[in-house]
Amino acid sequence: MLSPETLPNAAPAAPDAAAPAIVAAQGVTMVYKVGRVAVRALDDVSFTVRRGEFVSIVGQSGSGKSTLLHVLGGLLTPTAGSVVIAGQDLAAVSDQERTAIRRRNIGIVFQRFNLFPTLSADGNLRLAERIRGGNGGDPAHRRELLRLLNLEQRLHHKPLELSGGEQQRVAVARALINRPQLLLADEPTGNLDSENSRIVLDMLRRLNEELQQTVIMITHNPEAAAVGSRTISMRDGKIIADQLHRPR
Ligand SMILES: Nc1ncnc2c1ncn2[C@@H]1O[C@H](COP(=O)(O)OP(=O)(O)O)[C@@H](O)[C@H]1O
Ligand SMILES: [Mg+2]
Repeated sequence: MLSPETLPNAAPAAPDAAAPAIVAAQGVTMVYKVGRVAVRALDDVSFTVRRGEFVSIVGQSGSGKSTLLHVLGGLLTPTAGSVVIAGQDLAAVSDQERTAIRRRNIGIVFQRFNLFPTLSADGNLRLAERIRGGNGGDPAHRRELLRLLNLEQRLHHKPLELSGGEQQRVAVARALINRPQLLLADEPTGNLDSENSRIVLDMLRRLNEELQQTVIMITHNPEAAAVGSRTISMRDGKIIADQLHRPR
């Protein structure tokens, strides 16, 4: 068999093992207590995501996907296990520091867009710049995102004046406004028709390929999952498969 040693100029097999780990989850367990009932939403989940990967997380409703995303995003503290984001252990810091780590390193996109309804697309981006501490922001980066997401003609529209697909593209631009190391997306096409889903997925793929943006996306749609470079399948709070489908 050919190996990288015998083929010194060959591209490395994916994933790029030399790329730094953006996410390192180890033994992550999450038990929700509802009255006397304990729900084990995550059960000893461990995996690593390296810079430049585009990971799709699939699994039936209730398998723990959203819980995992919230834990990775520092929005939820797991019952056990550790999550290290860009070298920082989320469990080892105060709530305040965790919020700062999230704002610096993680952008999150939700199914329901969650834009401020009274602000224009541009206003939503500028607000995010201020919240995330970008002093005055980075106009060149904002323009680049608007170009990549094909939003240049929609800057002054408010969310209700935009289609669902356009709203989600604004939400993606907002999530990436301060160049986070990691983009998390929970069913980003769940509220979109097939045409807009295709456009949004295509743009996530471009952001991954052109900016080497690391992406972790939850989806229950196999076609959407195929946009990524790797698919993690979950069932009953556990990872049951972890498959690479194209090199990064
Ligand atoms: N806040 C919560 N309180 C109690 N149980 C929850 C809560 N959130 C999720 N669960 C339970 O945890 C399990 C995993 O849920 P979730 O992470 O939302 O799965 P998925 O996103 O794959 O549908 C489910 O059994 C769900 O009912
Ligand atoms: Mg969910």
